Amino acid sequence: MKVYRNLAQILTLKSAHAKDGRRLIPADLSLIETGAIAFDESKILLVGPDADLPEIYHSIPAFDGKGHVLTPGLVDSHTHLVFAGNRAREYSARLNGADYQAIAQNDGGILHTMSKTLACSEDELFTASVKRLERIMSYGVRAIEMKTGYALTIEGEMRLLRVAARLKNHYKGQLQIISTYMGAHAVPAQYKTSAEFVSAVVLPAMEQGHAEGLIDAVDVFHEQGYFNSSDTETIFKKAQLLGLPCKIHADEFQDNGGAELAAKYKALSADHLLKVGDAGIAALASSKTVATLLPGTAFFLGKDLPRARAMLDAGCKVAIASDYNPGSSHVDNLLLVASIAAPSLKMNQAELWCAMTLNAAAALGLKDQGALIPGHRPIFSLFRAEDLAEITYNWGVSLSRPLP
Ligand code: NIG
Ligand code: FE
Repeated sequence: MKVYRNLAQILTLKSAHAKDGRRLIPADLSLIETGAIAFDESKILLVGPDADLPEIYHSIPAFDGKGHVLTPGLVDSHTHLVFAGNRAREYSARLNGADYQAIAQNDGGILHTMSKTLACSEDELFTASVKRLERIMSYGVRAIEMKTGYALTIEGEMRLLRVAARLKNHYKGQLQIISTYMGAHAVPAQYKTSAEFVSAVVLPAMEQGHAEGLIDAVDVFHEQGYFNSSDTETIFKKAQLLGLPCKIHADEFQDNGGAELAAKYKALSADHLLKVGDAGIAALASSKTVATLLPGTAFFLGKDLPRARAMLDAGCKVAIASDYNPGSSHVDNLLLVASIAAPSLKMNQAELWCAMTLNAAAALGLKDQGALIPGHRPIFSLFRAEDLAEITYNWGVSLSRPLP
């Protein structure tokens, strides 16, 4: 058993948890001032004001948390972490006036990263990913999702799934890794239609990856020029047959019913939503699907931010993630993205923290975590701060420190 005492603040999100992460007011942070927490390897035993810590815990050598804030572990629930090369030239082309989708049709985009990634061995991709994850963990991230989708051949996608499996093993006990299969990321040039690519590669690789126990969830880039609704439903039906949860890149460039599809297939999350319409918002609000916002992508592509307030007020469960990838959001720092975006998204403190913890965990299907309440898993982030607000107030500076 471990005990932390005298923590300047503990963010429990107890009330946010009771409200299923929806319609939150600042009081739903359920902050404890000068708090104590006791936990064993698998669960939180007790959390409350230090002054109320029962006698029996006093004899246990405790970490002195003075000058620290403890929060539920940060979760980055949407990344494309395993890739090779970079697309700085596209960034520069965009600054000079080019458009993301036009670049993609002109030898750039996802297919550019695909050729770089396919040229790498499993070991090279593993080593590059470790380097990225070390930095991400230094921000306090304790769970991360990583998608495949930069190989787009059966063998190549299997390689990316194996890299994710090796990373899971490497970081056991330190970092939770969710491996999402996203064969439906782009259509390589040799296929005449997206449907042809879905049956030749996307479905067989999903079957193989599932048979080898390498897939936690399945994602689709549902967007004009990528995968249409019929492709998406084919993939989702197959995933459901295999018992795999779905996720979707939805309504990013235009409102094409992605959010509604997510609700219909009980997807864990619908992500992006830059252009989601009122019907899509209503569908998400009455479902368990998390609305995951990726403001880094809007910044990096020079697009308008999503209508977060409309989603929050409608009762959606909202998460924020980095969308870390080499093309549309080359940022690995979830807290930085949240710091910059929160004032424009008009999210209150409870909505913001819930978006990076409780609701982000739900977007990955992670149960019993995201709130610091008895019985939940002991997954925390620890920051050198006196007040929760300091963590995002110091944008671009990590106040995170390793757990004692
Ligand atoms: O979430 N939209 C699809 N996937 C990524 C972009 C990937 C890329 O440009 O390489 C995204 O934005
Ligand atoms: Fe993405």
